[in-house]
Order: sequence, then structure tokens, then C-alpha cells
Amino acid sequence: MDLDVDLDGLSVARSARTLKWDVAEGELPMWVADMDFPPPEAVRRAVAEVAAEARFGYASTIPRPLGEALSGWYARRHDTVIDPSWVLFSPGVNLGIGSVLRTLTAPGDEVVTLTPNYHHFFHTITTNGRVLAASEMIFADGRHQIDWEDLEARLASPRATAFLVCNPHNPTGQLWDAPTLRRFGEIAAACGAFVICDEIHGDLTDPGARHNPWLRVFAGGGAVGGGSAGGASAESAAGGVAGGLAGNRADSGAGEPVGGAAGVVMATSTSKPFNIAGLHSAALVIPDPIQRARVAAGLSRDDLAEPNSFAIPAAVAAYAEGGPWLDAVRAYVAANRAFAVDELARLAPEARPVESRATYLMWIDVRAWTHDSAGFARRLRRATGLVIDPGVRFGPGGEGFARLNLAAPRSRVADGIGRLVRGLEAEATAG
Ligand SMILES: Cc1ncc(COP(=O)(O)O)c(C=O)c1O
Repeated sequence: MDLDVDLDGLSVARSARTLKWDVAEGELPMWVADMDFPPPEAVRRAVAEVAAEARFGYASTIPRPLGEALSGWYARRHDTVIDPSWVLFSPGVNLGIGSVLRTLTAPGDEVVTLTPNYHHFFHTITTNGRVLAASEMIFADGRHQIDWEDLEARLASPRATAFLVCNPHNPTGQLWDAPTLRRFGEIAAACGAFVICDEIHGDLTDPGARHNPWLRVFAGGGAVGGGSAGGASAESAAGGVAGGLAGNRADSGAGEPVGGAAGVVMATSTSKPFNIAGLHSAALVIPDPIQRARVAAGLSRDDLAEPNSFAIPAAVAAYAEGGPWLDAVRAYVAANRAFAVDELARLAPEARPVESRATYLMWIDVRAWTHDSAGFARRLRRATGLVIDPGVRFGPGGEGFARLNLAAPRSRVADGIGRLVRGLEAEATAG
């Protein structure tokens, strides 16, 4: 295995210079989604080379190397065809999504999303003057299930112009299968909403578990409609899902909706899988040329189109050489998850982790003790020093859950589970 770090023995020096580790002595942060593992050697080398050569001039705003590296990665890892020309740079997924909403929707438009969901979506939607239309999932049989009737009703609203989906899903770690994604696409197309598919966690699946990129599921004709200001034509929406899976048409003629998703913006990044969020490099992948041109103009208007000096070299190195490192991390995190599940079953069997095969996050049902997840998180930190994300942060349906970050050395995960169990025991005696 081409892994240059011993993950078990590893620890990033505790440093108040990162958000995650800006905690008091003795506290253990298992909240913000950074890993404790240093990024692959190739990434660190690429960054060092830029610094050594003092390549600090303005970077190209159309970074072809990023498009090519991402395209190669998706072909190799995800069996998905992405034409490099579909790829736009954004300094972050969140910044990109905000810009897309400003460009392709109007103030007051409703943006539909499932909850519980990655909390920053709510911020991005509302601070941009759009309305959050939350379709709360139903928790049954140990997992969050889509309330299709509710989702359809929300997308059918005349003000609903966009559907923002997290694939795989944060915080639950659920992988959406192809039929589910296809159904999302069908409903969105029927309602004239375009889709933003955030796949930042797509590379972080357990070994053997398969991520379903939107652009593979809809390869070759599964177009999704364009929304009020979305710019996709009625024809492309109508051609939509009915177009079937005739194979990805990356080589089709200019102006045609290619990739089968004329109304789709797929967002992804090397930040999450390679632990380089601070380098601010992400990508928006948009097959439809008109929609892409509009989003590119929006990114430029928002002064977001220009990468910093490290962003592209780091992303290119990660895609080109980071695979073996990533596979080692995926195996390690999956073993961490199995360990944490076993420990909880042994020490606090009423704490129920939601079954997951993606992300390095663990989503735990703690309702046997408390429904007040924010209060629990506060008390837990005070009593044990463990810092977690309270479920309520992730919107309707998240109350009574806790999110734990498992991308840490095993000893640290063991410490975290021990603290969590102590915190739950304290809830029981206080209650
Ligand atoms: C689903 C999801 N999207 C976006 C982000 C943030 O991405 P970026 O730092 O590129 O804005 C995160 C970070 O945890 C995330 O979980």
C-alpha cells in the first residue's frame, strides 16, 4: 500500500490555528469535518513546490488542468464521463452554491432540500435572500427515509426553482442509490426545478460501497428542468429522464444538452476527501453550455473565479496521485466506524448509530436519553471535554441526534466514545 503515514500512530499537532483544534487544553474536538490525518504526500509536495518557486502570481481563471484531473478521477474512480470543459473553479463548494443560487434563482425563490441536512445549506439559502423549503425525512426502521409526497409538494410550489441535494448525505452518511437519484431528477424535472448535487463526500465511501454520481445516473439524457431563471430549455426538461441511459454523450455536438443533465450543477472538491479545506479549491461541473456560461459569469461577478496559487496544484496532485492514500483512509475510517459501533453497543446500547457506508461522520440517535441535543452537547463538553455537533444544527428531524467525526486515530476515537458514554450516563442520572 502506497501510504506514507501510519494512521494509527498519527496525530496532527494540536494547534489553535485550525478551527477544529481551537479548543481548551484537554478538550477533544469531534465536530467540524476536518480529518486529523495530514494530506497525501503528493499534495504536500505540490504545495511546497509552489512555495519554493514563489509562484504567487495571478492564476488562470479557467484552470484546464483542474478539469482534466477531475475528469480523469471521475472516469477512473466513479465510471463517470465528465468533459473537462464542463468544470468551473470555485474557491469552495459553499461559495459556489451561493453564487449558483444568486445566478440561477431569484430573490424570494424557494430552494428545496431534505432535512436533516448539512447545516451550511440553510445559511447559504437564507443569507442569499432565498427561502428554505425543508422536506423533513421520516425516521423509521433506524434510518431517515424520504417523504416523497412532501418532497413532491414542496417542489411543486410555484416559487420552488431549485433542489439542493447532498449525495452522499451529510449528516446521516446515507448513500443514495440510482433509483432514488432518478426519482429526485424526475420530480425536479416535472416541477421545473434545477438540481444542485453536492458530491463533496462522494469519494469517502467505505471500501466496497459505491457512490452514485448524478452524472453517471443521468448519463445520456436524464435532463432535469431549468427553474424560473435556470436557463435550461423546456425541450431539455421534456427530453429529460425519458431519454434513458443511452450512454454519456460527452462527444455530442456543441449546444446540445450533454451528460444528460441540462439542469444540473454538480459540486465537488478535493477538500473533504484529501483534508485540504484550507486550500480553497472546489469545482462546479455543469454539462449544459448555456447554464455553464451563466454560472461562470456569476462566479466572475462574485469575484470567485480566480484560484489562489496553491488551489489548483494541490487539487491536481490529489486527483493524480492521492488514490492509494484515500483508499487507506477509507479503510481506516470504516474500521473506526465498526469499532465505534461495537463500543457503543457494549457500553451504551440505547445509543443507536444510524447505519452508514459513506462520509467519516457518525450520526447517532441519543433520544433514549434526551431530545435536547444542543443542551446535551453543551453539558457533554462541560463534563467531559468532548465537542460534538448537536443534531438540531442539521434542521428539522435532527433533534435528538448527535454527529461525531471519526476521521481520527483510533485511540482518539476510543477516547471520544468513552467521553460520549460518560456524558450519556450523566444524562441518565441527571434526568
Ligand atoms: C455537504 C458539504 N458541502 C460542502 C461543505 C463545505 O465545502 P467547502 O469547504 O468547499 O465550502 C461541507 C463541509 O463539511 C459539506 O459537508
